[in-house]
Amino acid sequence: MDASGYAALLHHNATLPDATGVEGWFSRTDAELFISVDRQQKAAGLVGDILEIGSFKGASAILLGYLLASGEELVVCDPFGGTGISAHEPLVYTYFEDPFRQEFEANYRRFHTELPRIIQATSDQLPDAHLGQRFRIIHVDGAHHYDAVRQDLLLTRDLLLPGGVVIFDDVLVRHTPGVTAAVWEGIINDGLIPLFQSNKLYATWADAPWIELPDHYDTYVHDVAGHQMRHVSLPMTRPSLPRRVVHGLRQRVRRTLR
Ligand SMILES: C[S@@+](CC[C@H](N)C(=O)[O-])C[C@H]1O[C@@H](n2cnc3c(N)ncnc32)[C@H](O)[C@@H]1O
Repeated sequence: MDASGYAALLHHNATLPDATGVEGWFSRTDAELFISVDRQQKAAGLVGDILEIGSFKGASAILLGYLLASGEELVVCDPFGGTGISAHEPLVYTYFEDPFRQEFEANYRRFHTELPRIIQATSDQLPDAHLGQRFRIIHVDGAHHYDAVRQDLLLTRDLLLPGGVVIFDDVLVRHTPGVTAAVWEGIINDGLIPLFQSNKLYATWADAPWIELPDHYDTYVHDVAGHQMRHVSLPMTRPSLPRRVVHGLRQRVRRTLR
C-alpha cells in the first residue's frame, strides 16, 4: 500500500467510521492535501523529517509514515492517555483517559514494518528533546486549547525548515475557538504565512511554496491580513464531468494569470 491507497480507505467526513479500522479523526480530504504537500516538496527537492503532535490511535500518523523518503524520520509526540478531562475542551478530552499507546503501535504496524520515533509526553516537553530545525511537515493535532496551540505554534517556528508546511487541526470547528485564535494570532503577529485551509490550516514560516491541489476540489482565493490564501471546499459528491472540465479550465486560467 502507499499513501494514496491509504487515503482511499478514509472517509471524507472524519467523524464517520472508515475502512482503515483505525479509530480517529482524519479525513480523506486532508490525507489528499497532505499528499499534495508531500508531492510538491519532493518535486522541489526538499528533504526533511516529519513531526506529529497528537497522534491518538494513528489515523494520520500512518499516512505520514507513507510520505517518508528513504532516510527520513517520523517523530510522534503524544502522552497516549491520562490527559484527563479538561475544563477547556471537555468534548475533546473525554476520549483520552485510558492509555492507548499499544493500540497506536498495533495500528501503525498493520501498515508499516517500523514504528516511528515515539515521544510519550505532552508537547510542552518537546523543547527538551532538542529536535532541531529539520522538519518539512509538522502536523499539530494535540491539545486544542489556546495556550497549548500557541505554545505548539511558536515551537514549530523553530522546528520547520524553510519551505516546510505546518498543519493545524480544527481551525474551523466550533468547539475549538482556542485553535482559531492561536493560529490567527500567529499569522497576524508572528509571521506565520497561511497557504490554504480545509478544517485544518496549512501554513509555513518562510519560503512559501505553491502547492497544486487535487483537481476534484473547488478552491477559492482570499486576501486576508496581507496574505493570499485559498480555501478548499470539500466534495460531498463528485462533480459532474462538465463541471470538472469547467473547473479544470478555470484553475488553468488562474494559474496562467498568477
Ligand atoms: C484529536 S486527537 C489526534 C487525532 C489524530 N491525529 C487522528 O488523526 O486521528 C488529539 C491527541 O492529542 C493528544 N494530546 C492531548 N494533549 C496533548 C499535548 N499537550 N501534547 C501532545 N499531545 C496531546 C491526545 O492524547 C490525543 O491523542
